[in-house]
Amino acid sequence: MPASAQIAERTSKARPADAATESWVRVCALEELQRDGRKLVKVGRKQIVLFHGPKGIFACNNRCPHEGYPLIEGSLAEGCILTCNWHNWKFDLEGGRTLVGGDRLRRYPLRIEEGAVWLDVSDPPAAERAAEALDSLRDTLEDHEYDRMAREIARLQRTGSDPLEAVRQAIAWTHDRFEFGTSHAHAAAADWLFLRESFARDEAERLVPLVEIVGSLAWDSLREPHYRYPAASAAFEPDRLVAAIEDEDEAAAIAQLRGALAQGLGFAALERPLARAALAHYQDFGHSAIYLYKTGQLIERLGPSVTEPLLLLLVRSLVYAPREDLIPEFRAYGPSLAAWDGPRDGPRDGPKDGPKDDGGARRVAAEDFLGLDVKRALALTLEARGDLPALYDALLGVGAYYMLHYDMGYQEGTEGPVSHNVGWLDFTHHVTFANAARALCTRYPELWPQALLQLACFAGRNAAFVDRALDASGWQVGDPRAFLDGEIARLFDHGQPEYIVSAHLVKLLVAAREEVLAAPDAPWAADLLASVNRFLQSPLKRKHATRVARQAMGFVALEG
Ligand code: FES
Repeated sequence: MPASAQIAERTSKARPADAATESWVRVCALEELQRDGRKLVKVGRKQIVLFHGPKGIFACNNRCPHEGYPLIEGSLAEGCILTCNWHNWKFDLEGGRTLVGGDRLRRYPLRIEEGAVWLDVSDPPAAERAAEALDSLRDTLEDHEYDRMAREIARLQRTGSDPLEAVRQAIAWTHDRFEFGTSHAHAAAADWLFLRESFARDEAERLVPLVEIVGSLAWDSLREPHYRYPAASAAFEPDRLVAAIEDEDEAAAIAQLRGALAQGLGFAALERPLARAALAHYQDFGHSAIYLYKTGQLIERLGPSVTEPLLLLLVRSLVYAPREDLIPEFRAYGPSLAAWDGPRDGPRDGPKDGPKDDGGARRVAAEDFLGLDVKRALALTLEARGDLPALYDALLGVGAYYMLHYDMGYQEGTEGPVSHNVGWLDFTHHVTFANAARALCTRYPELWPQALLQLACFAGRNAAFVDRALDASGWQVGDPRAFLDGEIARLFDHGQPEYIVSAHLVKLLVAAREEVLAAPDAPWAADLLASVNRFLQSPLKRKHATRVARQAMGFVALEG
């Protein structure tokens, strides 16, 4: 058998021929290829390059899988090692491996017949291509190859498969690589999917949220080991789940979760005890409630296959959440909650509706909270507990006012103590927590005291970092819906290199939109919109080299 025929036979085994889809095409004369060494052929939309060398004949895509430059301009060494000279990726045309670089190069089976080169240009079955795209997507997570993630998800979509499967799989692949459970990557995922459903204007924009989610999961789990979840399961009792989280007993909490799942219970059955646990303390700067709210939305958007990994993450995050109400600044929270004896339930569709206390409790507005520290803000919240809607309005209002008047000197400062490391995201959390807490308490009204007192903690804490003399009139927004929708549309090309920043942009805008649409005439609406506007237009200093150095020096000096 001639060498070329042997090579042809070997190459044709690169992918077993599928009789149903096989499509052989005569592409050129063998003599012509032997003379020139390489040749570009076009078959439909495919550009295929043929190489002839000492190891035989090979056919592959002409577009380099890195950035698409033509491989016909590449260098061939050792008879089968092709180098793309643009960025030095290398491919073994004989074995099929990518030797340098991060994507696979498609090769085509070939045969020589009657002095001509024939290629099988048929595509593998869709299911095979989808599986290959998902396999390759998983590879991209290991090195956070963002561009390649986009290509693999686009390939998955092109097979006709549900592209959301990329997100479902990425959650499953990474869920045990988060030491402390749910992260902003999961929380923002729910909002990214909302943007995809409601704001994407074309197919490229429909791809953006998927790549952002997968990229963010990859980044947050990068080079993390597998933090295995306890395997035991126990008979589910809501109170035992809450108690296990309170005891920071991950094994017992996960056993409760597994028991609930084994009983066939889904998120809906678990949300109430998880909400109790998430709001049991002023904790993790509001993340717990935000994560719970967003986990529910994410399960709703992706379906039941993500319930288990997302709830494992969430329970872990609740177990390990820092409980700030145990530090001196917020220690009045616990006694305030214990002293709360006002209305705890009643329907509430939005901040303007709900039970009123006729017992003469004080009615408050945002202005009443201005300048109050945590202790006094908690005391005023207790005084005003008879009118929950008014209290919510006041507490969201003061948070919006504070964000509108954030003293950016704290962002720029390099001389302050650690406790003055207060930035924009400390203020955005007041809003996103309020949004999550309102959603949870609308379903579980018995949790309003916790939610409102925790909002008072936010307000009291941030009060020290605002400049009330600041002229904020220039940040007012004329058309709320146009402003919010316009800013959300800009997120598809946000340009932020840090996922933590883009996650906060997405979450804040979606939270603000939900609040404003739920209560467009609320007293806080103008300040909330203006504060979001100011935040979006202001510098966000994300690195503090001098401040870190000074604080490190001070820290070490006091070590003795
Ligand atoms: S385009 Fe080929 S290596 Fe970059």
